[in-house]
Amino acid sequence: MHGTNVLVTGGCGFIGSHFIKGLLSRDSSTTVINLDLLTYAGDPKNVGEWAESPRYKFVHGDIRDPELVDRLIPQVDSVFNFAAESHVDRSTGKDAGEFIKTNVYGVFVLLDAIRRLRPEIRFLQVGTDEVYGDIEAPGFPAENAILQPSSPYSASKAGADELALSFSRTHNLDVRISRCTNNYGPYQYPEKVIPLFITNALDEQPLPLYDGGTQIRDWLRVSDHCEALHLIMEKGQSGEIYNVGANQSPERSNAEITQMILAATGASASLIEPRSGLRPGHDQRYAVATDKIRDLGWAPQLDIEQGISETVSWYIENRKWWEAHKDAAYQAYYSDHYGQKKKT
Ligand code: NAD
Ligand code: DAU
Repeated sequence: MHGTNVLVTGGCGFIGSHFIKGLLSRDSSTTVINLDLLTYAGDPKNVGEWAESPRYKFVHGDIRDPELVDRLIPQVDSVFNFAAESHVDRSTGKDAGEFIKTNVYGVFVLLDAIRRLRPEIRFLQVGTDEVYGDIEAPGFPAENAILQPSSPYSASKAGADELALSFSRTHNLDVRISRCTNNYGPYQYPEKVIPLFITNALDEQPLPLYDGGTQIRDWLRVSDHCEALHLIMEKGQSGEIYNVGANQSPERSNAEITQMILAATGASASLIEPRSGLRPGHDQRYAVATDKIRDLGWAPQLDIEQGISETVSWYIENRKWWEAHKDAAYQAYYSDHYGQKKKT
């Protein structure tokens, strides 16, 4: 067991909230502190009924706040860092600075507190496959492949990984890094392509498909990602990086994922709106070698057809959740981003 008292940062977001629910369910002696800033992407209700548990404590705050982080680190035995600015499209615009501040400096604040106050505890940096950049088929980069991030988002995540590894080497901290492919599932904020297209399809709104829809992402159900993170903390090694991905075979293009969403929602293909120019530096293909995490005993449990179908059902049954997130701030982002360039 990697620790009874766990600090989860960014636990009101999509993946972090799934992770917390799984962590509290699997072991009745575990306590969780969830440190989350509640940016547009964070919702305290995402942890569901666990919000009322005596084993759960929510702290509204910033991973970039050293005084706050210094108060929390002595209370825990392990840290899972999910807190981040996570949307590539927002990182290519005016908000890029926030990505550097949270995704790089925030990680420094966490590591530095651990170094000073609890150097014996484990730290898992939740990273991304995007750090490897655009991968020409049929390549599958292993964990020691060179990093070639294309966007300010992925560059900030690569910086975080390197910073975390430097604290492992310089200060002998127990740092582990995961690099996962694209996640999908319930409670994903409707800016990412799958929940965006599902919710737009349900409302008979356009599906803005970028750049011909030929791009490949290795979609993984969020529950499979969370299982991998538990395993890395419990059975992985200090100082090591673990790729996590479904290795979809055949690989699925964005256009094929869109067709699956149309089939599951019953919406018309005429909603597809081809767009170009909205994602400068758009990577064509992501893929990773996953032998290392599979050697720890991990394998994805859900295939993509079943996963998309279940996810569509969840969004149909939870309209109130996503309608609340499509608020005025969301609409402002949407018209700023999607209104800016001509259709193709
Ligand atoms: P998300 O945007 O849904 O959630 C991010 C959470 O972090 C939010 O609750 C937000 O309020 C919080 N947060 C942001 N800045 C903060 C700060 N300064 N201090 C404290 N909390 C802060 O993101 P997600 O999709 O759940 O991703 C979680 C992590 O997983 C990120 O690090 C991301 O890079 C990584 N990741 C995501 C995917 C994916 O497909 N979504 C895949 C691989 C890795
Ligand atoms: O690979 C892991 C990464 O996956 C994570 O690190 C990121 O946090 C997460 O956001 C995700 O990044 P992507 O950029 O791949 O996800 P997104 O859902 O934004 O886009 C997926 C694909 O869909 C990409 O090729 C762009 C395309 N797309 C996206 C949007 C938002 C569209 O065609 N239309 C859209 O409106």
